Amino acid sequence: MVVADNPPVVQELALDRDCTTLSRHVLQQLQSFSGDAQELSALMNRIGLAAKLISRRLTRAGLLEGALGVTGEVNVQGESVKKMDVYANDVFIAVFKQSGLVCRLASEEMEEPYYIPENCPIGRHTLLYDPIDGSSNVDINLNVGSIFSIRKQEGNDEDGSARDLLQAGHKQIGAGYILYGPSTVLVYSMGHGVHAFTLDPSLGEFILSQENVQVPTHGPIYSVNEGNFWQWEEPIREYIRYVHRHEGYTGRYSGALVGDIHRILFQGGVFLYPGTVKKPEGKLRLLYESAPLAFLMEQAGGRASTGTQDILDVIPERLHARSPLVIGSKEDVALVESFIQDWKRRQEEEAAIAARS
Ligand code: AHG
Ligand code: MN
Ligand code: MN
Repeated sequence: MVVADNPPVVQELALDRDCTTLSRHVLQQLQSFSGDAQELSALMNRIGLAAKLISRRLTRAGLLEGALGVTGEVNVQGESVKKMDVYANDVFIAVFKQSGLVCRLASEEMEEPYYIPENCPIGRHTLLYDPIDGSSNVDINLNVGSIFSIRKQEGNDEDGSARDLLQAGHKQIGAGYILYGPSTVLVYSMGHGVHAFTLDPSLGEFILSQENVQVPTHGPIYSVNEGNFWQWEEPIREYIRYVHRHEGYTGRYSGALVGDIHRILFQGGVFLYPGTVKKPEGKLRLLYESAPLAFLMEQAGGRASTGTQDILDVIPERLHARSPLVIGSKEDVALVESFIQDWKRRQEEEAAIAARS
């Protein structure tokens, strides 16, 4: 008798046995059924719901009226707003209104935080998010993402200035992203490792697909927009020349941070969005992009740096502050930093010589 290697029925059973959903996983991670743990579990479940709604619209966008293209407006970042940015931003608001879970939402797309006063007596968390990351990919059906960060609200923020959010990334209690690719994948951490879930559309559930993701200590990928080469400071150009001249590196850049980080998280390497001579702070937003991804990468055993300082130590001056970002495998981030340190040391030496002469 011939027996098939992997009879389909066995595969189905294996899946059924291990169907860990997002909300159950959060409770397992926190090893508690306390009010706080229940709240975070419900919060992640709501983020999952936002992800499903956004994913649903993205998968049919070409068939829907008014789903693609720009609104004609410019956001607080000075960037042109896509219709999908507005939709996804509103989805996050809609799923958290009347949830009792968060008191405030702060988004890359909104100048000021959005308050839900009726939630504030009970929901003491703030959700910060980038509703659509990589929105230039939307109209051409390439991967995009959403990024989120959870912080405890400190004080009552009576003047609405959200000053309590102007604190280091270490203050995050959870963070993650959703990648809308061939599958929709949600990756999160509540400070106990990094875990990946895949949306099973037939169940309408995010199911655990990889627990305790660890980024390799070194990897082959370097991910950067080389079109900015002549706008960078010299040490970044030196690093890129280094990878061009050494074997074992390969470039990958998708135009969506979430996709590029996802690749690095699983395969190792480094993503860079450095500052330029004219814009030393770079492009990426600290509170909505760099800090949440830094939190995840550190939880996976990697690192995230501005080039001279750990991202999680940076205290933003404003809600929409930007920061340079070097993130990924420990050894690769350290190599980029070493180019910057060497260059700074050489500059100091030259300045000292010039001062003496
Ligand atoms: P967003 O769509 O949220 O504005 O983010 C775009 C970001 C990031 O996803 C990506 O890595 C980077 O901007 C791409 O910028 P360049 O086109 O300057 O390379
Ligand atoms: Mn973004
Ligand atoms: Mn965005």
